[in-house]
Amino acid sequence: MANPDPYLRQPWITVHGIPMVNAFAHNWERVDTFQSRPEDIVVVTYPKSGTTWVSEIVDMILQGGDPEKCKRDIISKRVPMLEFSVPGKIAAGTDLLATMPSPRVVKTHLPTHILPKSFWENRCKMIYVGRNAKDVAVSYYHFDLMNQLLLHPGTWAQYLEEFMAGRVAYGSWYDHVKGYWERRKDHPILYLFYEDLKEDLRREVAKVAQFLGQKLSDAALDTITRHTSFEAMRDNPATNYTKIPSDLMDHSVSPFMRKGTTGDWKNHFTVAQNERFDQDYAQKMSGTDLRFRTQL
Ligand code: PPS
Repeated sequence: MANPDPYLRQPWITVHGIPMVNAFAHNWERVDTFQSRPEDIVVVTYPKSGTTWVSEIVDMILQGGDPEKCKRDIISKRVPMLEFSVPGKIAAGTDLLATMPSPRVVKTHLPTHILPKSFWENRCKMIYVGRNAKDVAVSYYHFDLMNQLLLHPGTWAQYLEEFMAGRVAYGSWYDHVKGYWERRKDHPILYLFYEDLKEDLRREVAKVAQFLGQKLSDAALDTITRHTSFEAMRDNPATNYTKIPSDLMDHSVSPFMRKGTTGDWKNHFTVAQNERFDQDYAQKMSGTDLRFRTQL
C-alpha cells in the first residue's frame, strides 16, 4: 500500500472558494464531472451533523429493515463519500460509486454551490441533516484530534475561532446550513435535524421512509429504530469506523462514535466563549427563519 504520509495533517486546499481536506482536493475534476443517476439518494450534511446516522437509516430502509443485510460491508463502502480520496491508499468515492448498482446512496459534505451539477439536473432526492453549531463545533474539534487527514485543531479556544470564521474543512457552517435550507424550496430535499432524531428517532425514520416512497411495517420501523440507536451504532463494526486504518483515524484519541448527545457543548464552552459565539451567530444567521435547538 502507498504511504499516506503526504496527506496527513496537511493544510486544507481551497476548492471553488471552500477549504477542502488536502487529500480530497487533488484531481477535483472527478467530482465536478461526476455523473449522477436520477434514482441516486444524496445524504448531505456539514461534517459531524449526523451523516453516518442517517446513512445507516437510509440503507436500513432500502434493505427492508434487515440488519443482517446492512452488515454486508462497512458504511463507507455501502454509502460512499463522493469527494473522499486518499490517492494511492483508499479508493476514491467517485470510483466506488461508478461501479455501484442503483439505487446508490451518496454521502457528501459539499455545500450547494460545489455539489456536482448533475445531482441538481437529475433532481436527485437529497436528505440534509443539520445539527446545532455548538455541538457541531465540539464534535468537529474532537474529530480533528483523531483524524489524521485534517489539520491538528490546536486548543479548543483556537479551534472555536477558526470554526466561527469558517477556516475549517468545508468552510462556514452558517453558509452550509442556510444554503440547503434555501434550495429545499426548489429541489426535493428532506431537511432533518439531529436534535429531532435524538428526540424521537422512530418518528424521523418514518419521515425518511415516506420521503423515499418506501412502505415499512411497524416491526421494520421498530427494528430500524433499535438498530440505529447510538449504542447499537457505536458497538457495530459496520458503522463505528473502527475498520478504517488506525494511521488515518485514531479512536484511542477520541472515538468516532464519541457521545452522540445534544448539549455536550456546555461541557466545553466557557461563559465568555458562549456569549461571543451567540453574538456572532445572531449576525451570521440574521435574515433566515432556520432555527436550531441547542438543548432538548
Ligand atoms: S462525519 O465524519 O462528518 O461523517 O460525522 P457524522 O456522522 O456526520 O457525525 C458524527 C457525530 O454523530 C454522532 N452519531 C450519533 N449520534 C446519535 N445517534 C447515533 N446513532 C449516531 N451515530 C453517530 C457521533 O457520535 C458524532 O457526534 P459526537 O457529538 O462527536 O458524539
